[in-house]
Amino acid sequence: MKILLVEDSRAVAVVMAARLASFGHEVSLAENGQIAVDKFQESAPDLVLMDIEMPVMDGFEATNRIRRIEEATSSWTPIIFLTASNTHENLITAIEAGGDDFLAKNWPESILQAKMKAMTRINTLRQRLAKNLEQLTETNRNLADTQNQLLQSQTMASVGQLAAGVAHEINNPVGFVNSNLGSLQGQVDGLLRVISAYETADSALAAHPGILAAITAAKKSADLDFLREDIVTLMTESRDGLARVAKIVSNLKDFSQVDNADWQFVKLEAGLDSTLEVVGSEVKAKAEVIKEYVGLPDVECMAAQINQVFAKLLVNAAQAIERRGTITLRTGFDELEAWVEIEDTGHGIPPENMKRIFDPFFSTLPIGQGTGMGLSLAYSIARGHHGRIDVKSVVGQGSTFRLTLPRKRPTAA
Ligand SMILES: Nc1ncnc2c1ncn2[C@@H]1O[C@H](COP(=O)(O)OP(=O)(O)OP(=O)(O)O)[C@@H](O)[C@H]1O
Ligand SMILES: [Mg+2]
Repeated sequence: MKILLVEDSRAVAVVMAARLASFGHEVSLAENGQIAVDKFQESAPDLVLMDIEMPVMDGFEATNRIRRIEEATSSWTPIIFLTASNTHENLITAIEAGGDDFLAKNWPESILQAKMKAMTRINTLRQRLAKNLEQLTETNRNLADTQNQLLQSQTMASVGQLAAGVAHEINNPVGFVNSNLGSLQGQVDGLLRVISAYETADSALAAHPGILAAITAAKKSADLDFLREDIVTLMTESRDGLARVAKIVSNLKDFSQVDNADWQFVKLEAGLDSTLEVVGSEVKAKAEVIKEYVGLPDVECMAAQINQVFAKLLVNAAQAIERRGTITLRTGFDELEAWVEIEDTGHGIPPENMKRIFDPFFSTLPIGQGTGMGLSLAYSIARGHHGRIDVKSVVGQGSTFRLTLPRKRPTAA
């Protein structure tokens, strides 16, 4: 055991140290409280034997300071006071100063040995407890993490199923409404043409004032001039609305089909380039694109899905830029993983939104523009690849989304 013996009388200290050493303890000496505090910090003893009355700093003050040092690290070292005067006051002050026990110097050595043993036992128990507590805290943290992930993937799974169902149900009616609207448009155009043709005969009807009056009244009550313009607007708006529904359905379908695809080794940088071509007009209108590719090794993934992630991230980056900015595409890899980063100089993400951006249907785009499915789709694709998406963002400066994938598909455990 490492013992710090604090004793101002050199003669007493030397004798005691020799005795303790003979029992196999490692003893260091301090001749006053100040030196004791310094040595305590240097040598981290298992036990302190503390004299009370000493020059420079007494044992009570030294104990006080040691306890304050220990507070910072939540550690504890047993301190036994040694004194010549075995008074009740000394006992009480010693305990109150933070000492653990009290021993008169003239007591038999066997009692000191027994007390040291008791203190060691307490300390061992305390250390075991502290270790258990640390393990428990760690377990708790892991549990909370796992619970979060479970919740997230559970939400994703059930949203996926729901999405598949909804997309399937809506797809059909959307299809026939769309085709009907197309026919209707043609038919309405035809009807309007027929009406226009009839109107050229208005002058010939002057001889039949009764018929002309009836036609004029019918036109008036139908508000034909307004109707001609309004029909065009109504048709355009309806088709726009339907296109929006179709886009939501297609997003939902993409979202729910995360599972079916082929795994292959592909060049992610080439995939990013070709995706950029597809969504290019939207991106190029907003930003200069800078590529910082390191030349990634081939990565095993479902390429079509990963390209969808790129598309969602690229479009989001472009949408975040108000007028003109820069989008930087960066890649990197290590032994196990490869990553692709898309950085924009857009408006950034406020901290209160950070937790929600991966939630299905969360969108800050103007109503009607975003379905809020982009990132939740990207997230579930990343998860399906045992990868992840990390986000860094500073409001007013921009955001960086990083997709990290294992270079090889992990084999099922
Ligand atoms: N690069 C980015 N910069 C700033 N905000 C972003 C960025 N990417 C995503 N966001 C925020 O996260 C929200 C959710 O994004 P997500 O792609 O899921 O949906 P959306 O873009 O709003 O709609 P959708 O992609 O379905 O058209 C966005 O509305 C936006 O608030
Ligand atoms: Mg989006």
